[in-house]
Amino acid sequence: MEIITRVVTRCFGQTNGELLVGDMPISALAHTYGTPCFVHHRTALDRQWERLRTCLPREFSIYYSVKANPALGLLRHFLQKGSGLEIASGGEFHLALRAGCSPDRIIFAGPGKTDAELEMVIKQNIGEIHVESTRELERVSSLSTRLGKTAGISLRINPSGDAQGGAMRMGGKPAAFGIDEEQMDAAVDLARRLPSLAIHGVHLFAGTQILDHTILLTQYRKGIEIGKRLSARVGRPIRTLDFGGGLGIPYFPQDQDLNLGELQLGLDRLMADVQHDPLLKGTRFIVEPGRFLVGEAGVYVTRVTDIKVSRGKRFVILDGGMHHHLAASGNLGQTIKRNFPIAALTKLGQPESPPVTVAGPLCTPLDTIGREVALPELAVGDLVGVFQAGAYTRSASPVGFLSHPTPPELLVAGGNVQVIRRRGTYDDLHADMV
Ligand SMILES: Cc1ncc(COP(=O)(O)O)c(C=O)c1O
Repeated sequence: MEIITRVVTRCFGQTNGELLVGDMPISALAHTYGTPCFVHHRTALDRQWERLRTCLPREFSIYYSVKANPALGLLRHFLQKGSGLEIASGGEFHLALRAGCSPDRIIFAGPGKTDAELEMVIKQNIGEIHVESTRELERVSSLSTRLGKTAGISLRINPSGDAQGGAMRMGGKPAAFGIDEEQMDAAVDLARRLPSLAIHGVHLFAGTQILDHTILLTQYRKGIEIGKRLSARVGRPIRTLDFGGGLGIPYFPQDQDLNLGELQLGLDRLMADVQHDPLLKGTRFIVEPGRFLVGEAGVYVTRVTDIKVSRGKRFVILDGGMHHHLAASGNLGQTIKRNFPIAALTKLGQPESPPVTVAGPLCTPLDTIGREVALPELAVGDLVGVFQAGAYTRSASPVGFLSHPTPPELLVAGGNVQVIRRRGTYDDLHADMV
């Protein structure tokens, strides 16, 4: 409950126990736009952007990581603030262009890029391709030679053991991501020999959902060390050094907020150390956060469709579930199934009734959104929401499973509602069927 109070206070608001988003009662939004839906508060997005921008030294650029939530309205929102976009597929490249992003402000990471995807981005002069293996290096080189282009590339490096962290570790271990640090020099030499490549720099990505600033700073220090090694190897300062994303937000009772004040102090010290380093002269530093920028501003809003008791256990059934929010059901890589912050959105702060199981509408026991959840006494028709739902919800969920319509997404601020994703129709769902 404590996280919900914190998030409601800093990101939303409430009146008489009802959640307000951009000064609008959640019941009014749910009535007009239906449930299930995602509601994002623009002011909360702005707040998070400002907090991050203030924390980062001016040499840093932010590239929003599209995979967290690819809604065009969000991409445009961040582009207007001066963000670039980090993409991981041809589909996300297409969206980035539709959002009006200039190709040179797009960077493309991810293992298994296809020739078709690489061709598309090279033709359009993408800012950087983050190369994940020496074979990919060769493919990018031959494709760009054939297209008469020079591809800007960065080497994605899988750092050796000491820069790990986060819920999902992506560094230090054998991984599908990046080139092992131990093989970096050979990869750089290969990149220098191959035609039609411009080596921009390095990209380091070692984790996601990191709440400890010391882990981030350790990664950044490691990134600096790797970046300097690359500069020395190519004989000039690298143009870009991408530290990845990974900044976390609290989901569970023991989660503390990332300490941005300490992160800022650490980054300032780091920048002071490298300021006069000829190996990093003019280097632009990049972070590519997803979750941190959009996670807190979003609520997944559902309505209670049934309440029942099965063999003494009380179940609350919602009209939304794991097809829109897989992580809340505990089926997105978590080893321990813990409850995301769930609340009755018109009964905030009311006394709790005995704990209930909260289930979605899908015909599978996997669709359990909360176990032993302490909620006020609920009735059919009540609104139940999952907080911290702006990132990796719909974009990381099996939306096609059971053919429910996709949920709308609203961007709300100061009494103004923008539908940034409409509710899908049955025909939308089946549009590709022949
Ligand atoms: C290459 C890359 N960049 C950025 C991100 C964004 O991470 P986060 O949302 O934790 O900031 C991810 C997430 O998996 C990623 O794979």
